[in-house]
Amino acid sequence: MELALDRNASLIEWDEPALSQFGRKPLRLMHQVHRHELFSDDALARLLDNPARGDYYVNTMNIDAHDTRSRREGEIRDLPGRDVLRAVAEGRLWILFLRPERADPRYEALLEEIYREIASHQPGFSAKHLKLSILISSPNIQVYYHSDIPGQSLWQVRGRKRVYVYPNHEPFLSQPALERIAAGEAHEFSLPYDPSFDEHATVYDIEPGQMLHWPLHCPHRIVNGDCLNVSFTTEHFTPGIRRNFIVQCANNVLRRRFGWEHLSQDTTGPGYWAKFGLAAAWKLSGSRSRRRKVLNVDFRVDPEAPGGVRDIEPYEYHE
Ligand SMILES: [Fe+2]
Repeated sequence: MELALDRNASLIEWDEPALSQFGRKPLRLMHQVHRHELFSDDALARLLDNPARGDYYVNTMNIDAHDTRSRREGEIRDLPGRDVLRAVAEGRLWILFLRPERADPRYEALLEEIYREIASHQPGFSAKHLKLSILISSPNIQVYYHSDIPGQSLWQVRGRKRVYVYPNHEPFLSQPALERIAAGEAHEFSLPYDPSFDEHATVYDIEPGQMLHWPLHCPHRIVNGDCLNVSFTTEHFTPGIRRNFIVQCANNVLRRRFGWEHLSQDTTGPGYWAKFGLAAAWKLSGSRSRRRKVLNVDFRVDPEAPGGVRDIEPYEYHE
């Protein structure tokens, strides 16, 4: 199939009724970014040719059950990008490629174009700290239940997947758990999940040319269809999301250091400014920056190994 953007059309098909719910309810919109040459096999293979260690995560996990303990960290080494793609297509792998703009600045231009378009349809929308990450994942693989701190959209490029989006309040989202994730003390996947939550999820089967956007912090989980999946996420902070982040970090200190409960989520007023000061002091003390993640890497991507997973002598990688 010839991949080509229609330059006379917008990137997103703006559906006016849905637009009024942007950020308030889970939303599915049509887009044409899956036709962009930056997501062709050649472009993806170029990114995966000897990627810098800090630019990706590769994981394998149990596909039959929601078992976060089965999640393993791997590495990509001495393998042409084409073979990495083949290992994903035939195996049981999930690759998150970060900061593709470092390899090709056109990804940054695309990201900026996307946000310019969103802003032109959302009066007053202004976002910073924009990020685009590419997800390349095997048939039937899962992304377990988790919540993300920035505003986020998921764009489907190739393959099909089922996405469960849950309400962003108790019991689906535990406030202390969210605060620990915001403060960098817990992994996103540490969020407690119960299968009974599914009754309350908004469930989407998405295909190439569809994107999802959900309200801030909505927990979500993903199950791939029986096919290779290529997607990307876009992330952003608006001034409101930034203030919410500060409140979560301050609440974490108040709850864990001082034992406070029933903490307000207000992002305005004197209470907010006190938390702003507390979060700034906490940040200045270096508490967040010292908590770097350590990955226990125990496999290498190898298309000739079962599941694309070659066991190696485990080692620690410090981010
Ligand atoms: Fe996510």
